Amino acid sequence: MVKKNTCVFISGKGSNLENLIRRSRDYNFPIKIKLVVCNNKNAYGLKYAKKYSIPFLIINTEKRNFEQLIINSIFKNQISFICLAGYMKILSKKFLITFRKKIVNIHPSLLPKFKGLNTFKRVLEKKEKKTGCTVHYVNSKLDGGKIILKKSFFIENNENEISLKRKTQKMEYIAFPEAIIKVFSNA
Ligand code: GRF
Repeated sequence: MVKKNTCVFISGKGSNLENLIRRSRDYNFPIKIKLVVCNNKNAYGLKYAKKYSIPFLIINTEKRNFEQLIINSIFKNQISFICLAGYMKILSKKFLITFRKKIVNIHPSLLPKFKGLNTFKRVLEKKEKKTGCTVHYVNSKLDGGKIILKKSFFIENNENEISLKRKTQKMEYIAFPEAIIKVFSNA
């Protein structure tokens, strides 16, 4: 199978990045990770790019032309698909138009509920029965693009933010690869 050259954007821990790298090594998995973009030079997740010898680009978002530098690198590496995995920076309209329908994100709630930050805290405050994660296309509305796939679990009585995060992330490691397979099986 011809795998799609993919770039993963991260800002922190990078556990989804590592999971995607591992999955992408399967013969039948539709993507090959050719580039990692990170806006935080101290991000733990950069360790995985190094470990698996994947080229990475650390960007300084204080620079005015930082997105152009990303775009240049994406074109140079012939990237045709972008996964946002804990990337904590809003992408510009120009960037979104350039890669229209080619960017997906993973979010730690059952969208459209709980867009934005601090999802676990808000889920607990609202006394939700269920939570989970969502993989969706990225458009100019925060966490508002077309949903590709959601996975959920029931919240138990003694749950706290830490336990919710742990359960949600475990679910993300199944949901993100599954969503990518779905994207390319519909293509
Ligand atoms: C994930 O929980 C994802 O839902 C959110 O950011 C987190 C990134 O975690 N967008 P990691 O860096 O992949 O460990």
